[in-house]
Amino acid sequence: MIAIGSDHGGYGLKLEVIKHLKERGFGVKDFGCDSEESCDYPVYGKAVAEAVAKGECELGILICGTGIGMSITANKVKGVRAALCSDCFSAKATKEHNNANVLCMGARTIGPGLALMIVDCFVDTPFSNDERHVRRISMIE
Ligand code: RB5
Repeated sequence: MIAIGSDHGGYGLKLEVIKHLKERGFGVKDFGCDSEESCDYPVYGKAVAEAVAKGECELGILICGTGIGMSITANKVKGVRAALCSDCFSAKATKEHNNANVLCMGARTIGPGLALMIVDCFVDTPFSNDERHVRRISMIE
């Protein structure tokens, strides 16, 4: 199950990401928001991050205007490794190297075509399990 959340700035892109993930056969749990009405991104960033930290969802995706507020919020939750990505190389590398469990994106910084490619890179790439990456992640914890 993939947890997803956005604020008003990311709402439209979130709907496209949900549709894409469902078409690919993924289960998706939407933690809000539910419209383009102005709202506070930490509410939704925290809800998604906690669902991932508790193991209710394996991965999370968070979208706001820039992705920055969401990534700052999600990384406050212990056990969450949130990565703000605006390219496919980073989305792939952060799974392989950092075992990132939350992907953050900015709806005002990237287009929907690239965003869906980034989502695919993120969900399709496994953690490398390389000893040096395991060690570095445990140092973060
Ligand atoms: C909302 O205007 C905007 O601040 C938010 O979507 C996000 O970009 C915060 O980091």
